[in-house]
Amino acid sequence: MTQSILRGVGSYLPEKILTNKDLEETIETTDEWIKERTGINQRHVAAQNEYTSDLAVIAAKKALNDAEMSTQDIDLIIVATTTPDYTFPSTATIVQKKLGIKHGAAFDIQAVCSGFIYGMSIADSMLKSGSAKNILLIGAETFSRILDWNDRSTCVLFGDGAGAFILSSDNVSDFGILNTLIRSNGEHRELLYVDGGPSKSEYVGKLRMIGNQVFKHAVKDIASIMKECAESYGVAISDIDWFVPHQANQRILNGVAKRLCLNDEQVISTVSIHANTSAASVPLAMDFAIKDGRIKRGDLIMLEAFGGGFTWGASLLRY
Ligand code: COA
Repeated sequence: MTQSILRGVGSYLPEKILTNKDLEETIETTDEWIKERTGINQRHVAAQNEYTSDLAVIAAKKALNDAEMSTQDIDLIIVATTTPDYTFPSTATIVQKKLGIKHGAAFDIQAVCSGFIYGMSIADSMLKSGSAKNILLIGAETFSRILDWNDRSTCVLFGDGAGAFILSSDNVSDFGILNTLIRSNGEHRELLYVDGGPSKSEYVGKLRMIGNQVFKHAVKDIASIMKECAESYGVAISDIDWFVPHQANQRILNGVAKRLCLNDEQVISTVSIHANTSAASVPLAMDFAIKDGRIKRGDLIMLEAFGGGFTWGASLLRY
């Protein structure tokens, strides 16, 4: 049986750290407010000459190293990003060039914070159909570039970073990606969007959000897709070893954990140190928990995300 197995994981965070205390200097906020309402203490911010593709390439090299594979083994690159280097070409083709790969294919996908889970769904289908053998799937973002740094209700929430998976086809059973569900609903665009774009405004735009309303949708939709993802594969939520959620807000993580009666210790949280890195947050959190020894080979893991669109999804994986 062909399965998509996770052979390697890598991530990268830009050097510069922006703390809540730093933000107190520029906007009307406090370290206490940000910590209490979001759980965030700090975020990483890309240097001026550091682009999404640069973060992606470093994460990709680390994932290749972890998989003990070379760039030449990769026959498809998928980059999930909302903050591409250019409107075109895709960031994936820029990453392909920077990695010295001239064969195969590369493309971007855009599902905002759910981009990585969407990417897992696409990668899994392409590996199972035989369209690719070894896929480099990256979530990479420089959200700092689309934030309104005068809007305290949004600029405190996000950070920059990248994470990457190497997914390969293999003949195994009950291993690798077991089940991925993706969903969207375009009705609530005005709750979370960027107020610009090439076709509508010829301007990149800045992120706008009505946070407290997004919050309610996020908790409800994430909990429901996680349950559906587990049950449609034939396992119970209680069978899962680790939950690797999108890192938007610690209170969202807690709300979902409460609804599904999860043990807080099983929920990987990096929100305090990374903030919300959009499509990069799930692979960043996964890498973090592998490196600190919590997630081990053979563990059953559920990944999930929710973002603008709205888009959301969940993926069940045996690592
Ligand atoms: N510092 C201090 N006060 C702030 C602030 C900040 N950085 N940002 C907002 N406030 C104020 C608001 O102006 C408001 O003041 P008012 O009552 O005088 O009008 C007050 O805090 C409460 O605002 P509210 O938006 O109701 O707070 P909240 O508890 O919902 O927390 C978020 C705000 C944004 C942290 C929270 O709603 C959230 O995380 N939402 C989900 C966001 C998200 O995850 N989006 C991405 C999904 S991928």
